[in-house]
Amino acid sequence: MSLEIVILAAGQGTRMRSALPKVLHPIAGDSMLGHVIHSARQLAPQRIHVVIGHGADVVRERLAADDLNFVLQHKQLGTGHATAQAVPFIKADTVLILYGDVPLIEVETLQRLLKHVAPGQMGLLTVELDDPTGYGRIVRNADGKVTAIVEHKDASEAQRVITEGNTGILAVPADCLADWMSRLSNNNVQGEYYLTDVIEMAVSDGLLVATEQPHDPMEVQGANDRKQLAELERHYQQREGRRLMALGVTLRDPARFDVRGDVTVGRDVLIDINVILEGRVVIEDDVVIGPNCVIKDSTLRKGVVIKANSHIEGAVMGEGSDAGPFARLRPGSVLGAKAHVGNFVELKNANLGEGAKVGHLTYLGDSVIGARTNIGAGTITCNYDGANKHQTTIGEDVFIGSNNSLVAPVTIGDGANTAAGSTINQDVDKSQLAVARARQRNIDGWKRPVKTKKT
Ligand code: UD1
Ligand code: CA
Repeated sequence: MSLEIVILAAGQGTRMRSALPKVLHPIAGDSMLGHVIHSARQLAPQRIHVVIGHGADVVRERLAADDLNFVLQHKQLGTGHATAQAVPFIKADTVLILYGDVPLIEVETLQRLLKHVAPGQMGLLTVELDDPTGYGRIVRNADGKVTAIVEHKDASEAQRVITEGNTGILAVPADCLADWMSRLSNNNVQGEYYLTDVIEMAVSDGLLVATEQPHDPMEVQGANDRKQLAELERHYQQREGRRLMALGVTLRDPARFDVRGDVTVGRDVLIDINVILEGRVVIEDDVVIGPNCVIKDSTLRKGVVIKANSHIEGAVMGEGSDAGPFARLRPGSVLGAKAHVGNFVELKNANLGEGAKVGHLTYLGDSVIGARTNIGAGTITCNYDGANKHQTTIGEDVFIGSNNSLVAPVTIGDGANTAAGSTINQDVDKSQLAVARARQRNIDGWKRPVKTKKT
């Protein structure tokens, strides 16, 4: 079987009340359409056609990729009309129709649906609903065979009682679809070209309409407004929380934990409340993440400990290293094994050797720090001269005194020491002590100034 996928994403989404096209509204850090494309790709189709209309330029720009064919639907004349725009591009023998605003559909459900496509047979995904208002109803005959879908607005009182709703997702033989599209009409209450009309055509052509249901109705829930968007977001987060717990992560509270990207985890990981994981995050065994941390695009090796309120981005933390509370690791931060970053420390493009310590109130930018070196409290690298960034290189077993200003470019050799309060703007050789601060003078008999009386 060769497969192509059509994703309908041309609708306006008025109820979002937004300048952003509806399908670009985010769930877990990716657009709704991005989620649908992600799931579609896992079915390995030959091509994915995305039908766009409202906000077409923005959608195309945001999601452009080699395997996507964007098809413009100039006027939104209905789901059938939207599908028809993509049909001329289809070469495969099976077509799956998805929706850009139905982001949580599971690949496994789609695989089950696709199994129903065969010569003389198509697959339709339906859902049992407590309140089917607004949905197309699945009409079955006395044998239980699907004969039609009737839109809510076109349905009779008797049909509105039906609780089996149309999800809109279907899988069909491509040659049939092309033929049905040429026969669509807009002779209905809404004056639209309904994709759902293909069901009656299929039945009259002698096809069997086989149905399949999602395990969870939220998979086929669309987001028409921000309330539904929030519900989908929570559902996604609960699903992701369950996935991680099943892999061996303790979440102190799954309701206060958010994933916005791809997370891989080891075992016996402990994640406290209000942690946000963004982008690509790799967490190895025995990592502990304290409360209120944001971890983005980072790798945390075995046994890393991140204490409360830390912000970690674009960092690699080596085995057994730790950071926080209130640490900020910016992109390019690399911590060797057992390196220590304490409170109110900011690193950017900085490499800490094994066992190096930066305990308190420090900024290290564009720096390489050797193994076991200790950086005193309050030290900063002056890495920016107002025009260019410069490098600070510090060897192994160095002791940088408290409150140093390291004016880059500067190199400090292995085993060197710098005195507290120094401004270091010249290189320091191996094992030297650099003292670069004004000498203290003690003045005897100093008279404090006295306040002048106001007249
Ligand atoms: C559609 C189904 C209905 C089903 C419901 C499930 C039809 C006629 N009806 O109804 O049976 O129960 O979905 O949510 O198919 N779109 C376009 N171009 C258009 C019109 C729509 O791209 O011209 C896209 C929209 O962006 C949206 C999707 O198609 O993603 C569904 O359109 P919508 O108008 O929401 O269909 P419903 O009336 O909800
Ligand atoms: Ca809808």
